[in-house]
Amino acid sequence: MDIKKIGIVGCGQMGSGIAEVCAKAGYEVTVVELDDPALARGLGRVQKSMAKAVEKGKLAPADMEAALARITGTVRIEDLADSDFVVEAVYEDLPTKQKVFADLDRTCPPEVILTTNTSSISIAAIASATKRGDKVLGVHFFNPVPVMKLVELVPSLMTGESAIATARGFVESLGKTAVLAKDSPGFIVNRLLVAYLLDAIRVYEQGLASRDDIDAAMQLGANHPMGPLALSDFIGLDVIKSVADVFFQEYGEARFKSPPLLTRMVTAGQLGRKTGKGFYDYK
Ligand code: 3HC
Repeated sequence: MDIKKIGIVGCGQMGSGIAEVCAKAGYEVTVVELDDPALARGLGRVQKSMAKAVEKGKLAPADMEAALARITGTVRIEDLADSDFVVEAVYEDLPTKQKVFADLDRTCPPEVILTTNTSSISIAAIASATKRGDKVLGVHFFNPVPVMKLVELVPSLMTGESAIATARGFVESLGKTAVLAKDSPGFIVNRLLVAYLLDAIRVYEQGLASRDDIDAAMQLGANHPMGPLALSDFIGLDVIKSVADVFFQEYGEARFKSPPLLTRMVTAGQLGRKTGKGFYDYK
């Protein structure tokens, strides 16, 4: 299948990163947001990230201009009617995603593959909102999207082989490496990573070591680029809690239960970098 135009629903942290890598790879990109202010924020994020890549010598200024010119923003999902391949990256909430997929199913021609960037929700549950379960799958990017090389491909029990092959070709055309995971909570990376992050939060909560020492230990002792508490702030404590809640609901294992401190920080709106306060303070 010849893919030229990519539709992206949601231009938050992940959607904007996906828009950026698609535009840099030469695709025409249309991003949909809920309203004009959200769209302006999302496109601003793309611009800022590309400017950073230029500053770091990773992108030529002319390529930045060309990539930005390939991105169109809209607040109407109907504007994705001519997209060849769609990636959804809206808030991690099943009814919200099902509504988006029902709208996409009505809007896009029946042969178009619809993918979700969900990090924890069942692909089958999302696909069930459409009449094209064989053409729906998970295409899970990692944050920051322009830097992280991995994408998990997650077919549901309904997904057809040709949709998986097309999605793999698309991911590779972005310069990313695809791995295949079954439609189970957290796929590969979050299943392992979130359990680790929850444990690190418990170590901190129980006073077994200081915040800085926990992070330094894993950075210097395991060569991780970020310690677990800094990484939790980076991902967003609300995201970690919502993934943990899905895991706990599905597996019933105590290791996936949100630690009381995490629950309270989320309730208090201390979500990490995006709110200026989490385990660390941000300007
Ligand atoms: N475009 C292209 N390249 C960029 C870029 C951009 N917008 N921004 C930065 N880069 C490049 C830099 O040039 C640099 O490349 P180099 O190593 O070749 O010089 C590299 O990316 C690192 O950038 P910085 O020097 O600015 O920043 P740091 O060295 O401090 O690294 C980090 C920042 C990449 C975020 C690093 O700390 C890291 O990898 N942290 C872990 C991130 C992680 O684990 N993410 C996964 C989260 S889980 C997830 O997303 C799943 C979800 O479902 C929850």
